[in-house]
Amino acid sequence: MADKQSEGGPPRGGLTRRALFKGAGAAAAAGAVFRSLEGAAEEAGPRSQGPGKVPVTLKVNGAERKVPVEPRETLLEVLRLPLELTGPKPVCDRGTCGACTIWVDGEPAYACSVLAVEAAGHEITTVEGLGNPDALHVVQEAFVAHDALQCGFCTPGFVMSCAHAVKTHGKDLTDAQVRDACAGNLCRCGTYPHVIKAALAAAKKGG
Ligand code: FES
Ligand code: FES
Repeated sequence: MADKQSEGGPPRGGLTRRALFKGAGAAAAAGAVFRSLEGAAEEAGPRSQGPGKVPVTLKVNGAERKVPVEPRETLLEVLRLPLELTGPKPVCDRGTCGACTIWVDGEPAYACSVLAVEAAGHEITTVEGLGNPDALHVVQEAFVAHDALQCGFCTPGFVMSCAHAVKTHGKDLTDAQVRDACAGNLCRCGTYPHVIKAALAAAKKGG
């Protein structure tokens, strides 16, 4: 699927996948401005955190987690270690594959492309926050029922994108809307047709 952001629901923050893509274009145009500001910043003296760890409180899956992080660490790194939420997967680590997809304030975001310090004050949801083996989310159930995974490495990201589509469109979810929601997710095993079937089935069950 092409690498573009879901049309389902407008992002509210600057950390979402759509904001990331818009930001990539804007960054090129802003480069000259940043370069011209560098001199002024050097004169005013550096205002940086780190390089050592700084205390951060992250709200993850409804719980506040206090954790010391280095300012350079991504949210993905901090979620997986030390918070031990290994659902979001590190694959490309550069905002192209979608395996690390989480929600920030209810909108899909690439955890590999958000700094942990930026995420403080935002509601973070990982695939672990959707359901668990004893009480699966309807999208997780549908992925099992429709055999929507093979190696499974991309699956948490697809589940987060599909669950967002189901949440956004409900029973009216269409094939095109699922494709659009998953446009930022890649699957090397080619599970796309079953992912679409699973998302549509989940939506019919009431999301
Ligand atoms: S690991 Fe984040 S988009 Fe690929
Ligand atoms: S199931 Fe293997 S990469 Fe998607």
